[in-house]
Amino acid sequence: MTQDELKRAVAQAAVAYVVPHLDTGAVIGVGTGSTADLFIDALAPHGARLAGAVASSERSAKRLAGHGIRIVELNEVDTLPVYIDGADEIDGSFAMIKGGGGALTREKIVAAVARQFVCIADASKKVAVLGRFPLPVEVIPMARAYVARQLTALGGAPKLREGFITDNGNLILDVHGLSITDPVGMETRINQIAGVVTNGLFAARGADVLLLGTEQGVVESRRP
Ligand code: 5RP
Repeated sequence: MTQDELKRAVAQAAVAYVVPHLDTGAVIGVGTGSTADLFIDALAPHGARLAGAVASSERSAKRLAGHGIRIVELNEVDTLPVYIDGADEIDGSFAMIKGGGGALTREKIVAAVARQFVCIADASKKVAVLGRFPLPVEVIPMARAYVARQLTALGGAPKLREGFITDNGNLILDVHGLSITDPVGMETRINQIAGVVTNGLFAARGADVLLLGTEQGVVESRRP
């Protein structure tokens, strides 16, 4: 199977996590990226029975709206029963690197509000140790050089994502060369650097459920 087929399979499987919330008035959270795009497409046939969705990016909001799914602002809801999103890497404790699509800050906010985080990923995303995928860090533009120096001091090699501005008007530094054996510690440390909006480690609030697309089918597991 191709990577796209694996992504499509997990996207379809994730619809089962939305079905209990159809016709209930509940609003769900929807992530960003190519896997999330496929999930949005799989959700489309159920859109009329869904009260709405909070999107983690302008890109996803546009795609949801294109399928006639109502977009809800996060400030309009107290809670989301479920948030469904992809990941760039996920480890054995369900900590993740996210933000390959640059939507990490809004993703982290929506995930914080959700009661359940369902990660949808093809098998290539499952790793023993996070860090081979460069860690995205969203940075206030005036702090770019300072934050880059601090990230270098932590042992990484930050690289500006050229020509990219986040939905929040900020920059992304992609940090290469990290081997992240303490994801919660690293997430906390990087977030303490002045000028960092957030970083792409989702460890303090990791995934609750993983739907992993493998050659043997979609493997469903819960956070250990
Ligand atoms: C976007 C993300 C995505 O979830 C992550 O990059 C995975 O993307 P894809 O589904 O395209 O592989 O965090 O900011």
